[in-house]
Amino acid sequence: MCGIVGYIGHREAYPIIIEGLKRLEYRGYDSAGIALFDGTDLKVSKTKGKVLDLENRVSSEISTNANLGIGHTRWATHGVPNDINAHPHYSNSGNLVIIHNGIIENYDSLKKELITRGYTFKSDTDTEVLINLIEDVKLKENVKLGKAVQIALNQVVGAYSIAVFDKNKPDEIVIARLGSPLAVGIGDDEFFIASDASPFIEYTKNAVYLEDEEMAIIRVNKGIKIRKIKDDTLVDPYVQELQMNLEQIEKGGFEHFMLKEIHEQPNAIKDTYRGRLLVKEGIIRMAGIDDNIEKFLNANRIIVVACGTSWHAGLVAEYIFEDLARIPVEVEYASEFRYRNPVITSNDVVIAISQSGETADTLAAIKLAKANGAFVFGVCNVVGSSIARETNAGAYTHAGPEIGVASTKAFTTQITVLTLIALKLAKAKGSISNSDYRYHLQELELIPEKVAKALKSDEHIKQVADIYKDARNCLYLGRGYNFPVALEGALKLKEISYIHAEGYPAAEMKHGPIALIDEQMPVVVVATKKGHYEKVVSNIQEIKSRKGKIIGIVTEGDIHVKELADHIIEVPETLEPLSPLLTTIPLQLLSYHIAVMLGKNVDQPRNLAKSVTVE
Ligand code: M6R
Repeated sequence: MCGIVGYIGHREAYPIIIEGLKRLEYRGYDSAGIALFDGTDLKVSKTKGKVLDLENRVSSEISTNANLGIGHTRWATHGVPNDINAHPHYSNSGNLVIIHNGIIENYDSLKKELITRGYTFKSDTDTEVLINLIEDVKLKENVKLGKAVQIALNQVVGAYSIAVFDKNKPDEIVIARLGSPLAVGIGDDEFFIASDASPFIEYTKNAVYLEDEEMAIIRVNKGIKIRKIKDDTLVDPYVQELQMNLEQIEKGGFEHFMLKEIHEQPNAIKDTYRGRLLVKEGIIRMAGIDDNIEKFLNANRIIVVACGTSWHAGLVAEYIFEDLARIPVEVEYASEFRYRNPVITSNDVVIAISQSGETADTLAAIKLAKANGAFVFGVCNVVGSSIARETNAGAYTHAGPEIGVASTKAFTTQITVLTLIALKLAKAKGSISNSDYRYHLQELELIPEKVAKALKSDEHIKQVADIYKDARNCLYLGRGYNFPVALEGALKLKEISYIHAEGYPAAEMKHGPIALIDEQMPVVVVATKKGHYEKVVSNIQEIKSRKGKIIGIVTEGDIHVKELADHIIEVPETLEPLSPLLTTIPLQLLSYHIAVMLGKNVDQPRNLAKSVTVE
């Protein structure tokens, strides 16, 4: 969590940093701050609130003609969100300045030790402890900043990506990473530092991603020198060419990123299967699977590890892998898996799913699985992310940047990749007939236009949203492939509108949740024709008899649910395993419109961050 940005070079640092922070607000947005140094004066400005609040404050507080600067947008871990706890933090002498993404777990003992040595602290943060530790080392050992950072980090337990500078050495920034991402944009005698590449995409396409346990000293005119934090080994910088462009990270006329990303799904899904799904040839081409097919075919089972929406995509994968490829699948919350001493063998294949590729629990689950000999396959969206690099092989979703905190296109593109894999394995195993296989390929190719059709119900969904926007609770029900969709629909509603919502397998309702149903309770039922339709219709009857309000997500032309439901929202017909790709769409729109009508901050819901890099 938290976004960090830094600049050193010949340009004015302020606009680069402030714009960069806006692009990184998805990582946290409870407070923000900036430090600028013009060679004479160090100016630090920080505020509780968003980057816009910082911008308003900076214009009246500090001069901006500095060529060196660092900035931070925060998701609080230690200390409440307020002006004092906001980053940057500086050392007691006022010479060293730091921004930090992560957690220093042993900050308390370090702080106590520093207090006995005369240090004082203004904030409640672990970061202020770290910068004073660095200062203490620097003075005690009489070493340069880079060395002091290295020695201090070797005393630290936790996770970090940091950028530090010394106002007595204004041509240098020192950065380091362990467990939180850090990219360096390389320009002509200028360097950009950021949690991801979006803040510098218009300035350079060349980037170096620091690996865990690496630090770098960046000097104008002298370049970047990367070292291992532990043993001082020099590392050759590996410069990657970025594929991202500016349009991808702007709103493109939509009111919110979430709405833009919902509407991007037809193209995003196409981008996901482009070059992989070759319908005419009857081939699915995926290098990560082709190169490791035996591992999958000989696996005892597949274990999916993920969090949140990605976990829901994993649940869809369980149905599809077992149904089509006949491979047993277990779906695990990464946060539980990593701590519960799971049985993992070298015959297990682990699939880690993550949009950001930075989720701390998923990353830790991967490391655990690898340490126990499992083969780990990643399904990530962010190219070059930690999970993409940590896994043995993988497939990108190619959804393009997802900026809205609520996942939308990440979910449908993850399902697309997982469907391709399941079909490929089913074909290789012979667990699907040739004609069924071909049929699935053809239908998958049609999904983008069917998603586009489902999106056309937007106005109708808005009317339904208007009726239920004041509900305090909401139930989401589905069976089979549509059970994970019900979970995902409920998550979307609660995270952006703060309405309490629960997803259940429709038949489980009788075992408890039915007690909640009365005339106040909206129940969203996913009831497509092929998904145990008759059984779901019976569940709808049960809700109806208890006067619940029914919103049915149905297949085009449905008649039975229409008779029972208060509202229906139609989606085009498709094969059952592909139905989550369509039934999800109205649920995303329903949550979106309710949240907008309630005046919530759709793209940046309270207490959340896009990338959960703390456990
Ligand atoms: O980046 P990841 O896919 O690993 O993120 C996992 C969850 O934090 C994420 O899916 C979260 O639940 C969504 N933002 C919810 O919409």
